[in-house]
Amino acid sequence: MPEPADPGTGVPLCASSDLAEGGRAVLFDVLEYGQPLRAFVLRVDGQVVAYLNRCAHVPVEMDWQEGEFLDGDRRYIVCSIHGATYEPSDGYCIAGPCGGARLKAVRVAERDGQVSWYPSADIRPAFGAASTTSSP
Ligand code: FES
Repeated sequence: MPEPADPGTGVPLCASSDLAEGGRAVLFDVLEYGQPLRAFVLRVDGQVVAYLNRCAHVPVEMDWQEGEFLDGDRRYIVCSIHGATYEPSDGYCIAGPCGGARLKAVRVAERDGQVSWYPSADIRPAFGAASTTSSP
């Protein structure tokens, strides 16, 4: 599990090169209000974005295979359960049974070839748990 360099800095997640445009996401473990769950980071339109892996329709993981969140055109995030469709740039539901809700974002930044995520008051690192899962 990656450790933060110091408090207040990002938690190293993966290399920039691990996130291909429209490719498979890298999954990582977090605690939301102390409860373990997974999050994912991917790259769409050149932008690196991260969300909790939890559908706004029913709180279940959305990927249809591990790390696979995007539709056939590699444009939108689609839940594998009932097809809720989300805009990658902001996580808003644009179609399907998610009713205008949005995915919960995790703040990420990309710098010097490294992608890191930033804990918040409610989303914390899950140190000691299983760590990131990189795409092959
Ligand atoms: S659980 Fe995701 S669309 Fe229903």
